Amino acid sequence: MSRIVLGVSGGIAAYKACLLLRLFAEAGHDVVVVPTRNALEFVGETTWAALSGNPVHTGVFSDAEQVPHVRLGREADLVVVAPATADLLSRAATGRADDLLTNVLLTAGCPVLMVPAMHTEMWLHPATRANVATLRSRGVVVMEPADGRLTGPDSGPGRLPEPEDIEQLALGLLADPGVAARLAARDLAGRKVVVSAGGTREALDPVRYLGNSSSGRMGLAVARAAAARGAEVIAVTANVSLPLPSGVTGVPVVSTADLAEAMFAQAADADIVVMAAAPADFTPRTPSASKLKKSGQHGLTVDFTQTTDVLRTLAGRRPDGQVVVGFAAETAADGEDLLELGREKLARKGCQLLVLNDVSGGKVFGAAATEVVILSADGVVARVAGSKSVVAHAILDAALNATPDERNAE
Ligand code: CTP
Repeated sequence: MSRIVLGVSGGIAAYKACLLLRLFAEAGHDVVVVPTRNALEFVGETTWAALSGNPVHTGVFSDAEQVPHVRLGREADLVVVAPATADLLSRAATGRADDLLTNVLLTAGCPVLMVPAMHTEMWLHPATRANVATLRSRGVVVMEPADGRLTGPDSGPGRLPEPEDIEQLALGLLADPGVAARLAARDLAGRKVVVSAGGTREALDPVRYLGNSSSGRMGLAVARAAAARGAEVIAVTANVSLPLPSGVTGVPVVSTADLAEAMFAQAADADIVVMAAAPADFTPRTPSASKLKKSGQHGLTVDFTQTTDVLRTLAGRRPDGQVVVGFAAETAADGEDLLELGREKLARKGCQLLVLNDVSGGKVFGAAATEVVILSADGVVARVAGSKSVVAHAILDAALNATPDERNAE
């Protein structure tokens, strides 16, 4: 169980912080809410206390015997400020300590995640831009706001990202506090990352298909991590029911042929391409135009053909400098056997990196935590164990660190 301080500043999006608080509490974390005086204009102390199950700290001078202005920041594993208003960002950037929340920010030794929400003009104002840049230069993770409907009839960037999205990023920071520096540095700014996610479906007839149970979680974790590090991210999603992370553009597809077409179009000018989807390897040679009917006691025989190998084709037409990443789930007798299968697949697919995991005995599938080996033609680049977020960041690190030779080799 981790200790999270949830700072809430005075914006209408404070009501969405209630949902975020619930998600943290449901995930088993101990959450202490520190609302600013203005935040209490939007959501009252009772709501925060009831949802967190903890006393709510509102002032520097209450509970003075517990020295909350120092203790809360020191004891936290993560501080999340949602919503972070333009005023809060300004006070944090200049090191003000005029209320409990800004005191917590000055004493926190853990990662700090700020989730801005404000009107577009305020977000784009040079003063706010400068404050965000200052905070990021100090290692504070400042999420980009979502682009969408604001308080009034207007819309634009400035909306608080969805609570699930904030939670995922926050849990990634808890799992590996080292990620904070990479998020704050936005080391993928100016790069285009294209990720595929989910499982394709091949139509047997108008109502039936051949599919697989890939949820798309790994691909979305890579998309979320890349967007949080500043990349332009396209997620080609095959039948994924999970919401897209904020800042990610989705291209929904159904079949392997659709996936291939979308990936080839999107990857042409990408810096990093990650094939995390599970495309069907076979498709019916001639899907039935009408619904297949039972006939007597006969079974059904379907003639399948192989689909395009999207990864191999992408690797084959890769522009110079691009890194193509594949995945392989293998059932291996032991670690050496796994590496041998991985080396063979890396060579066969022609990709620069292969993310290899051992699924023998039902390992990995459906598990929250996973264990992978990242391989290049030169051998093992990294061994990673942890949440999908931790693995996603390790994949992006490996892609960023790929040597020019790996990136440009024929
Ligand atoms: N892949 C792809 N196009 C396909 C099938 C797979 O791009 N038609 C990609 C997957 O997204 C993954 C990688 O290839 O990144 C490895 O998938 P896997 O199913 O292990 O590859 P196969 O070539 O089908 O290997 P095997 O013969 O071992 O099943």
